[in-house]
Amino acid sequence: MPRDLVTELKEDHRVIKNLWEVFSRSRGNEEKQAVANTIIREVSIHAACEELSVYPLLEKHFGKHIAEESRQEHLEVKKELKTLDSMKVGEAGFITLLEKTLKEFIVHSEKEELEILPKFQEKVTEDELLKLGKKFVEDRQTAPTHPHPEFPLEPEEEAKVAHRAARKDKKIDESRMFIETGRIYV
Ligand SMILES: [Fe+2]
Ligand SMILES: [Fe+2]
Repeated sequence: MPRDLVTELKEDHRVIKNLWEVFSRSRGNEEKQAVANTIIREVSIHAACEELSVYPLLEKHFGKHIAEESRQEHLEVKKELKTLDSMKVGEAGFITLLEKTLKEFIVHSEKEELEILPKFQEKVTEDELLKLGKKFVEDRQTAPTHPHPEFPLEPEEEAKVAHRAARKDKKIDESRMFIETGRIYV
């Protein structure tokens, strides 16, 4: 059953929020590492797909301001996520930084859900939202799975480097453990 873009975005937000609860409940470093790897992957995919396909539409309908502010918020999250990506869960400071990063992500995603997406739904037809939802799911398959705060903020420039980086990211992921999220992922 195809879902519209807003439903897909909210589903990503819900899954990521839920992963924090799973992390908090999990026991032992091996289990926690698999959950942390999944959080890093899911936030990275979500952020990249929004930056490449959704924020350009925000810019088109509402001007540069909202999209630029959103990109800056992603950048802060990605910088912290990159630090986490280079650490192990058992290292000092990992859990505190993970909690801080996810809190920032949740504040950002709530702003999208409460302020930005309702305005977007008024501008875009239901038919178009369904097409965008399908595209978002496709984009998830080729998006980087690790954070890249060093990428250009301009979407066309980011797109040029994102897909190549995604292939390298997936190589790294081959030796990592993840947990099932229910999100379509190949
Ligand atoms: Fe976002
Ligand atoms: Fe989002």
